[in-house]
Amino acid sequence: MRSRASIKGHPIHPMLIGLPIGFFVGTVAFDVLSLFLGKPSFWQTGSHLEAAGIISAVLAAIPGIIDFRYTVPPNSSAKKRAAKHGLLNSSMLIIFTAAYFLRDDLAAGYIVAMEVIGAALMTYSGWLGGTLVHRNQIGVDPRYADAGKWKEAYFDKSSGQIDVASGDELKLNQMKLLHIGEERIVLARTETGYVAFDDWCPHKGGSLAGGSMMCGTVQCPWHGSQFDVSSGALKAGPSKEGIPVYEVVEEGGRVLVRV
Ligand code: FES
Repeated sequence: MRSRASIKGHPIHPMLIGLPIGFFVGTVAFDVLSLFLGKPSFWQTGSHLEAAGIISAVLAAIPGIIDFRYTVPPNSSAKKRAAKHGLLNSSMLIIFTAAYFLRDDLAAGYIVAMEVIGAALMTYSGWLGGTLVHRNQIGVDPRYADAGKWKEAYFDKSSGQIDVASGDELKLNQMKLLHIGEERIVLARTETGYVAFDDWCPHKGGSLAGGSMMCGTVQCPWHGSQFDVSSGALKAGPSKEGIPVYEVVEEGGRVLVRV
């Protein structure tokens, strides 16, 4: 799934998270050193790093929230994982922010203990973030062999026939993700013409638009379930059911999908 918050296909959230991670790890390091060595200058440095960490974490959260809302497939295992990721990061940020404002009021040992907990939450959250990218392919910009780049378009919710593409827009085996209201439908070009089917994989909600297609079969990128894109029939598990398909007509050089 290509990120909505990206620059030329490069997702912004992963670009920014290195900043709060570095600042908060530095905070813990300098505050621990200050605690054991008794150096006030280290404590001061920890304070500056903590402030920088809080600001950069808020900035990094903005594209993360956009991707959570628009990129992660709805009703999927990735959506639950992304929600947990966001919750952990919010908790981590609250803890570091509280530690920052309590630095002069609480004993240094308590502040360091709070920061260590915050860093532990950040580490676990980073683990989940890695799973979201490397397993669930959130933010990955697929390039299909010989079939062009990722395509995506948004339409207002409506029923009946919707004009979704020109007749020559897609190459053979290329897919285009259509957001029609809250629904996500994939338009694809096969050897026998255009087809349209649900983007949602019935196994765990993977986005089929991010998968691969060949000979009228789409393969889910998460665990490899395969579906016939003309009939929606299941061809290979782990999914136990097929996918809905939609009527497609070509008229006057345009492709229309009936929803
Ligand atoms: S989500 Fe598991 S095969 Fe599609």
